[in-house]
This record gives sequence, C-alpha cells and structure tokens, in this order.
Amino acid sequence: MDNETKFMITCMLFAAICSSVSSDEWKATVVKSIDALVTSCVVVPCSFSHTGGNLPSSRLRGIWHEKDGTKRNIYHEDPTLIKDNFKDRTKLVGRLGQNNCTLEITGVKDHDNGPFCFRVELVRTENNDPTKDKFFFVEDCVELNMLTEPLKPAVIKPKTATLGEPYTVTCSVIHTCPTHVPKLTWNLDSTNIIVHHKDIKQGNWETQSILTVIPEEKDDNREITCTAEFNGGLKSSETFTLHVKRIENYNHIIIPAVVGIGTALLFGIFCIFMAKKYKNHIAELQNQEGTMWNRLSRLSRR
Ligand SMILES: *[C@@H]1O[C@H](CO)[C@@H](O)[C@H](O)[C@H]1NC(C)=O
Repeated sequence: MDNETKFMITCMLFAAICSSVSSDEWKATVVKSIDALVTSCVVVPCSFSHTGGNLPSSRLRGIWHEKDGTKRNIYHEDPTLIKDNFKDRTKLVGRLGQNNCTLEITGVKDHDNGPFCFRVELVRTENNDPTKDKFFFVEDCVELNMLTEPLKPAVIKPKTATLGEPYTVTCSVIHTCPTHVPKLTWNLDSTNIIVHHKDIKQGNWETQSILTVIPEEKDDNREITCTAEFNGGLKSSETFTLHVKRIENYNHIIIPAVVGIGTALLFGIFCIFMAKKYKNHIAELQNQEGTMWNRLSRLSRR
C-alpha cells in the first residue's frame, strides 16, 4: 500500500466515524432563566430531540442535577439519589417518551436558584450484557431568578362606568407555576367572572380574571380590589376606584323642540293652504261680479 492509499483509507474511516456519531445527534432545550416565587412552584420547560431513530423510552433516563456536580441530583427516578433538600419537591411533569423533560419544583426556597441541568441518558444494552452498556447524553441548564415578593396583578379597565350599563374589568397576573395556578378574587359579588390561563412562552403563564358588573348609583367611588393568591399562600393585590357616570339625557330639551317645530310647520302649511283657498274664492267672486254687471248693463240697454 502506498502512502496515498493509506491516507485515503484514513480519511474514509474518519468520515465514517464522524457520520455515525452525528447520525445519532442529541439536543436538549431548556429555558435559560425563569422567575421562581419563593414558597410557590416553578415549572421549567424542557425538551430534547435526537436524530437516531426511535428510542425505547424504557431505556431513557432523565436526570436533573446541580451544574457544579453531576452527582448532586435534584431529580432522579431513584429517589435515594436525590439531594436531601430536594426530596419530595421535584417531579418530571413531562414524559420522556414524548421527548419532554419538563421539571416541576414545589415549595421553592430562596436558595433554589441553580443553575440546574437536565441530562438524558440512553442506555443501549448489547446482548443483555451490562458491561457493554453505552451511554449517550446531553446537557442543558436553567437558572432560577428568585422572587421573594409576588408580582402585582395588572388591571385593565375603561376610565368610567356608566350607570346601568355592563362594565368589564380585566385583572391578570404572570406566574411560572402552571401546575398550581394563582387564584384571582374580587372584593365584590358577581356571577359574571371568566377565568383564562395563557401560556406566554419561556415558562411564563398568565392567569386572567374578567369581571363584568352593572354599576348602581351606590357603586360610585367604590374601591375595587383584585387579589392574586399564589400557590404556597403569598398574595398581592391591585385596587382602583370606580367612577359611575349617569347616562346623559337630552330628552327634556329634544322633545319640546320637536313638538314646537312640528306645530309651527303645521300652522305654516295651514296658513298657506287657507291663503290659496281665499284667493281663489275672491277671484271667483270677481268673475261672478263681472258677469252680473254685464248682464245688468245688457238689461238696462234694452
Ligand atoms: C411538556 O409537558 C408539560 C407538562 O405536562 C406540558 O405543559 C408541555 O406542553 C409539554 N411540552 C411539549 C413541547 O409538549
């Protein structure tokens, strides 16, 4: 074999190895940072993908660990391998078989800031010989931004309410705990409240409460409060003052005006009509007079 052939073979081998590795390409996608409210829960969105064909989900193992130590697990399918202060607080809410590695942490503590990394392992057993198991894995990490105070709800409302007409106010709050959503309450009784939950991406969710009331006179200057109670018990609220306006009513001006103008018009038409009629009558009389005179003069000439 000459040198050139050797070089060719080396190249081909190298290419073959490269393509076999990249045909089994893994990718994990974890949100880079997410707010987490102390005492509440946080759900960290995570997904992974691979290009190596169908995966037997029984061979997949999803682990979450602290970034500075692959052995410091915060989630593992074997609970004895989870760090003490994360025991019973973490749960894989995504299904690994659906490439979903979403993690839930409950009872968030102010030192839970991470970073935490997801690691998926695929165990490939050849001939059921554990010594020949092969592991493939990827990692991606998230940082938790700790909030010790909950975010305030935001209220969107029309400037003024009109007496007796439906008035709609929207109260919404952003959170990262979609498995135990915050409760929004109002300080007044209404049966007309609609609640929505929206995924606003990157692990953030919005809970919205839409209240519709029909204001009465006594509701003028009333303080309306929307309170958000988060999982874990922390609360925040937003208050505003309702201003109730009467419906502007111009009937007391419009009705007499219409009646007045209408009467004037009718009277006008009547006058014109009468004037015409009278004129015709006079003309007729004059004609009659004329013929009478002619007759009389003819008679006198005889
Ligand atoms: C992953 O699972 C979570 C929790 O069940 C779910 O909310 C989310 O939509 C899933 N993500 C995808 C990409 O399917």
